[in-house]
Amino acid sequence: MCGIVGYVGRQSAGPILLEGLQRLEYRGYDSSGIAVIDHDGALAVLKRQGKLRDLEASIERMPSGGVGIGHTRWATHGEPSDRNAHPHASSNGDVIVVQNGIVENYRELKAELHDELELAGRDWQSDTDTEVIPELISRELAVGRSIEDALISALSRLRGANAIAAVSRRHPGRIYAARKGSAGGIVIGYGEGEMFIASDLPALLAHTTTVHHLEDGDIATIDADGVTIQGAEREAFRPTPLQVDLDPVAIARGPYRHFMLKEIHEQPRALSDTIRGRARVDPPSALADDLALRDETLRGIERVLVIGMGTSLHAAMIGRWWIEQIAGVPADFDNASEFRFRAPLLGPSTLVVSVTQSGETIDTLGAMSHVRARWGAPQIAITNVDGSEATRMADASILIRCGPEVGVASTKTFAGSLAALYLLACRLGRARGSLSEADFADALEQLLTAPSLVDRGIGQAARCAEIAQRHNSATNFLVLGRGIEYPLAMEAALKCKELSYVHAEGYAAGEMKHGPIALLDGSFPVIALAPRGPLFDKMMSAIQQVRARRAPVIAVGDEGDDELATMVDDFIGVPPAPPLLTPFALTPVIQLLAYHIALSRGLDIDQPRNLAKTVTVE
Ligand code: M6R
Repeated sequence: MCGIVGYVGRQSAGPILLEGLQRLEYRGYDSSGIAVIDHDGALAVLKRQGKLRDLEASIERMPSGGVGIGHTRWATHGEPSDRNAHPHASSNGDVIVVQNGIVENYRELKAELHDELELAGRDWQSDTDTEVIPELISRELAVGRSIEDALISALSRLRGANAIAAVSRRHPGRIYAARKGSAGGIVIGYGEGEMFIASDLPALLAHTTTVHHLEDGDIATIDADGVTIQGAEREAFRPTPLQVDLDPVAIARGPYRHFMLKEIHEQPRALSDTIRGRARVDPPSALADDLALRDETLRGIERVLVIGMGTSLHAAMIGRWWIEQIAGVPADFDNASEFRFRAPLLGPSTLVVSVTQSGETIDTLGAMSHVRARWGAPQIAITNVDGSEATRMADASILIRCGPEVGVASTKTFAGSLAALYLLACRLGRARGSLSEADFADALEQLLTAPSLVDRGIGQAARCAEIAQRHNSATNFLVLGRGIEYPLAMEAALKCKELSYVHAEGYAAGEMKHGPIALLDGSFPVIALAPRGPLFDKMMSAIQQVRARRAPVIAVGDEGDDELATMVDDFIGVPPAPPLLTPFALTPVIQLLAYHIALSRGLDIDQPRNLAKTVTVE
């Protein structure tokens, strides 16, 4: 989603801002812009619809000046266009702002400010909600308030969640940043005689690994020598920065053609890192030192609700399965954006588990705060981002140690979330006594094979490429699975949609004859996830029904399953896995199929159209 960068220091801000924005490109955007101020207060604002290269191409002369802010926009209010791109200036040109989030009451505020603007012979310059923010700040400055007070006052007028960065011609040596609600974070980076800000850590790592994360309600004043923060309680302080150990090389693409491909190949390592030290077989233990929830609390859990969005929701669906099967606890899953507006029946003995790789998805955070406000039920966040909002809202977190995921499509974080959910199911089952020590050890031993199952699945890359090539002109896919493979069928369809822009539906195979079968004919390929397991025979019947309608079948099954292989048009063999572990064996294949369909269609794999890596707006 939208990205923010900022710089103040001795160097020329423009190139640093552009380079920072490049590192945020993976979040998805449709326009970009920068504003640079020199020490005399002279301001240059440059913005363009399209990719960053369009912005760069439009810059005839890089503005001088060592202070600036930049933005990549993903349109919410007003079409993608030059005029709607950020930064936005107040009508007198004094205050310039970029924003992530939504000003929900912008219509009211525009109406309120309209007369003043008209009196001054000015008008709104964009269709965005953001433009009210510099206008509100500048109105406060005009009545003699300090810029910090003007920011506090302006932010208090906004409804919604907002992360902003601002510069002012009246204070040319500083940038300001503020965070209100969960519209994504702002990270401040410390250099030598220079300071940086960004909405995401990767934009800073080329410059510094010494950082401070703004909290909800913080307003930061940043000059070349440091930062002063006014917290939610309005006391001013100089924060103590953290040292982060992310390796900038880890976010480079390396020899891979796309970040997505790199991240698919990183899955065995991501899984090993997530499991390492958390799954021990002799004596058996799971998440022993990791979960800040005591066994007493876990013993009292009578029900588990797993929530998430998109790929994380599919992980949640598989997690539900494991919690029922391994822990023996009643479990449900829910789509966070629906759950947060319902009044479901939870209680203090319900454990709510939120799966969110970014830890910043607005609907998932909304659901978490719904749980906290209404039921006070214990909450666990499963996330890839330490210090993200989800980790702050939860009572305990399981970090999935996947390293930065740059491709918009979630791949290795899906695998990492699965490992965390499986570990949680084991820990819960043992704490409640529903899992015997021997079964506990057995379940953990099985999990330790997950990295190699994924690795062997990745070994099918060439076969996936060949099959994808053959079907790359199909306009529809049906993906079928049963049991624990049903959520994977949905994940496979999501991957096809988001990467290849092909219409695809994931269905429980048993549901097919209740409607979707009407669609099938010779031009409608069906992907069947059919490893040998308890429901294999039922999958075989579904495949027979598909074949009878002459729809081509691509089956993913156990290596060496000749009965299945000879029955279908295309077969991809994955390592046979114990019934609860099949998601690990199948995951890379469904990802690679979608990747290669998109590749053969020449699409933008790491930044699919209309999508954002972190969805911080409703
Ligand atoms: O950061 P989260 O895991 O909360 O994100 C949830 C979804 O937005 C995300 O999984 C999305 O569906 C991905 N593009 C899927 O590849």
